[in-house]
Amino acid sequence: MKKLISILLVLTMIFSISAMMSYAAEEGVSFIIASDTHYSKITETVKRSVTVAPAPASVENEETYAHAVATGQLRYESEAVLDAFLSQAAASDEKYVIISGDLTDSGSETDAAAMVEKLKAFEISSKKSVFVIPGNHDVISFTKAQFKEYYKDFGYDKAIAQDSASASYTVDIDGGYRLLMIDTTGEKLSGHQLDEARVNWIKAQCQKAKSDKKHLVAVMHHNLLQHFAFDFMHEGAIISNIFGLEDLFCEYDVKYVFSGHSHAQDIMKYENDNGKVFYEVVTAALNLFPVSYRVVDFSKSGVNFETKAIEKIDTSKFASYGIDSKAIAKADADFMGYAHIMYIEGIKKFFTQKISDEILCDIFDVTLENNEEIYHILRKMGGKLENVIEFPLYTEGLSDIEEERVSISIKKRDSNGNPVTQKDADGNEVSVMVEVFSLQEIVESYGGRMVDSVYKNLLDLAALLYEIHITGREGLRLDSKEYSVTVNSLAATMNYCLYAVSTDEYAALLKFLVNRLEPSFFGQMPKDLYANIAGIHDSFEQNILFITYMLSPFIKSAFTDDDPEDNNVKLEAYKSFEVAPQNPPQQEKPKEEPKEDTSFRAKFVAFFDKIAEFFRMIFSVLTFQDVF
Ligand SMILES: [Fe+2]
Ligand SMILES: [Fe+2]
Repeated sequence: MKKLISILLVLTMIFSISAMMSYAAEEGVSFIIASDTHYSKITETVKRSVTVAPAPASVENEETYAHAVATGQLRYESEAVLDAFLSQAAASDEKYVIISGDLTDSGSETDAAAMVEKLKAFEISSKKSVFVIPGNHDVISFTKAQFKEYYKDFGYDKAIAQDSASASYTVDIDGGYRLLMIDTTGEKLSGHQLDEARVNWIKAQCQKAKSDKKHLVAVMHHNLLQHFAFDFMHEGAIISNIFGLEDLFCEYDVKYVFSGHSHAQDIMKYENDNGKVFYEVVTAALNLFPVSYRVVDFSKSGVNFETKAIEKIDTSKFASYGIDSKAIAKADADFMGYAHIMYIEGIKKFFTQKISDEILCDIFDVTLENNEEIYHILRKMGGKLENVIEFPLYTEGLSDIEEERVSISIKKRDSNGNPVTQKDADGNEVSVMVEVFSLQEIVESYGGRMVDSVYKNLLDLAALLYEIHITGREGLRLDSKEYSVTVNSLAATMNYCLYAVSTDEYAALLKFLVNRLEPSFFGQMPKDLYANIAGIHDSFEQNILFITYMLSPFIKSAFTDDDPEDNNVKLEAYKSFEVAPQNPPQQEKPKEEPKEDTSFRAKFVAFFDKIAEFFRMIFSVLTFQDVF
């Protein structure tokens, strides 16, 4: 009897242990993910590059402006930021740290070796594991083989499978999860690259994970989905040819894909035709405001995302880099505030460096030789754009000196917004001109209203819009003051730039733009439309309409976000392997044929859409291609 009880006890123990094991296998896991650390080892050469550029008048913190980088990134602080990140990670409960590419800024051997040394020391002292994949910066001078050799201890050594043609690999972590680390970079190229072979390798890993009953979590540097209307500003952010990777992820329940590269926080849901979904989670750059990373916790009840920030950095070496003592004091007292100032000033540096009278000609490849008429028109408008970038939004509070510096003359208008004219010496009707000192006065000259705000100029607004984007705080209301000020300021800017050209020149410009976009399009438009639009270029209402169209993707990006909250949110869990997959019978959705709207209004809107595309090209010259 005793023997029977003992056998039963042993059997019960075996069953309960195996039950516990199968439960543990799917219990969950958490990790830290950071991206785009852009680490630079501080060398004498780097120190010498702390330039003292003259600060524009709108800059309030000259001492920080001097070493602000025109991308808003913390270049000279990147080492201190990385050290702070690693010590915060060491103190955390998470066992794994993932860095999704752009580990170093230069991709040089010196920087990679220094990065490896830091990660190694971290692994040894914290007993945690680091997993990396390359970003475009990491392969500037490295081949795949070199990258894998340098970073061998951070994933490759523990890999279940490796792709011989790229730096992709898979590695198991706790809780029944497996990381699918996808190399999206090209060989010695700075752009993204996926080819059929690499996607086939990914597919094989999906099949293997399914048979191994592992939940796949993908990590890559470039973005799979288009998250931001700003994306066109940095060509190559999104992988252009993905060979059906979205469907592959949906079908194999790769529910979460982590990426970086865009230097912005965003979570986006993708649903395929079969109603299957995955989420792409983009993590912002660690060395750029808001200097943050994610803690991700996978459990049976869901996947929890938490954004954490770098709280404090060690500034003890900063004086030796030539960084101003006031700036160091600020970094010590309030590091997030310091990162914000550096971001704002970097963005201002970027715009002031990029916008010149030549900018529009560069965008459209127009030279004096290939198109003299358009060259002169674009130069005139570009010159105005250069002036207006720091033009005050409001007149109130300007000193006499500032007023003298910014003063411009515009057409005087009556209370209905019509230009006031007078006869000149020859008896010709000419517009009466009036001096103004702000965009607000331009708006008001048309009977419009510029609401009060804290923003001082277009640079402030550009920094605001970009900040919303990088911090994942989209969702400003369309009836917000920010929206109103942005649209009004840009319409006033457009008016201001158009003062430089005549109605005929504007018509010629529109014709040129539309022809450049799509030669066949021009022929389809009503003949007098160009003349009509050009004729109303002096109308503020039309400019508002124009601006709304032209900036719709920006505005949409900054003021709306229908996707999940981007920072702190709980999303759906992976399906348990214990539950039989349910495949509801698929019903063919009847496809609705879109009806063609042939009204004049529709054509007019279509026309503006085309023009808007051109203006987006204008912004595209502000490309971040070399930056991300
Ligand atoms: Fe990148
Ligand atoms: Fe980057």
